Amino acid sequence: MSLTATGSSAPVAAVLCGLAGWVPSRVVTNEDLARRLDTDDAWIRTRTGIRQRYVVEPGQATSDLAVEAGRRALASAGRDRVDAVVVATTTADHTCPATAPAVAARLGLAGVAAFDVNAVCTGFVYGLASAAGLIAAGVADRVLLIGADTYSTIVDPLDRADAIIFGDGAGAVVLRAGHPDEPGAVGHFDLGSDGAHEDLIMVAAGGSRQRSLPGEPSRRDRHFAMRGKEVYRHAVTRMAESARATLSRAGWKIDDVDHFVPHQANLRILHSVADDLGLPRERCVTHVESVGNTGAASIPLALADAAAGRTIGPGDRLLLTAFGGGLTWGSCLLTWPAFPEFPAFPAPARPAAQPTRPAQPARP
Ligand code: COA
Repeated sequence: MSLTATGSSAPVAAVLCGLAGWVPSRVVTNEDLARRLDTDDAWIRTRTGIRQRYVVEPGQATSDLAVEAGRRALASAGRDRVDAVVVATTTADHTCPATAPAVAARLGLAGVAAFDVNAVCTGFVYGLASAAGLIAAGVADRVLLIGADTYSTIVDPLDRADAIIFGDGAGAVVLRAGHPDEPGAVGHFDLGSDGAHEDLIMVAAGGSRQRSLPGEPSRRDRHFAMRGKEVYRHAVTRMAESARATLSRAGWKIDDVDHFVPHQANLRILHSVADDLGLPRERCVTHVESVGNTGAASIPLALADAAAGRTIGPGDRLLLTAFGGGLTWGSCLLTWPAFPEFPAFPAPARPAAQPTRPAQPARP
């Protein structure tokens, strides 16, 4: 179906009506990393709170995870059709084209609008705003938004500073046109960026800058590089500022927030932001311990995990806040809806060939 704006003037919001998470089957524990890198479980847990992460098998790509999460989110919404598919990712299957059209086709949605959003780890919040824009503009009634990343494909496995942090995964939501006051309506938003610090999180090679030069890129330039300490400082400051700006736009006080759902960068960052906001740490939804930092997938994965575990329930008020390379940051508010049907998370499916491996991340 081609999309055309209807020009309706009624107040319209994007309302959450489907949700699911998915991770690949291969689990990598801190002990596994310590066998091949100069690191140990205690260092990793103390600095990041991470105990394990999931990584793709050779040959698996971001779209494979996105399709699994997307299919389950559509089922949870009781739909097999949407008008648009948006994939938030930094680890697209290819430099060109975008991953979303292939994901849409594999979900039986060939013909719908499909595009990628790259705002690194803020991608899901930017994707929510993009989906809300499509719906508010009257060009889509239903949007499937998938946050999916496979950082294991861009992080240097020999780089102990980055290899300990990232994991692969996908989380997806379905949004439908609804009223701004009904449960599940997303907004208010705050989005921001500061490209003056683009070098803090970067894969230097593979894009037009490097390809316009002669010669092959170095191993370092081909892999993800992050200046950890500076990223940490920016993440805490920007996430706290963005959260405050969004609350203020909506007229919410910090006490109105039942659950703070931050991008799962690492546990210390999340707790620092909660402390800065004066928010009790118990209200901070975390599952970084079980899956690591899954990039654009981390917020929807955390939501799916918390919803399946009944940590979040209908009527609860949520503040979502993310930070990522770019630099980018963003926040959004929503009141949790009642899902008529919610798929169990961890998801049950697991290849029969690997029966002894843990099925999906345990709830933190
Ligand atoms: N195991 C053991 N030692 C390690 C290590 C590892 N995996 N990684 C780094 N080290 C070493 C360093 O080499 C350094 O050694 P030195 O003092 O001899 O030079 C020492 O530990 C301290 O390194 P440093 O980088 O200062 O550690 P840190 O306290 O800043 O922690 C991070 C490193 C990456 C965990 C931390 O900077 C961080 O959390 N940054 C934010 C990362 C993040 O969440 N990014 C996502 C944002 S979307």
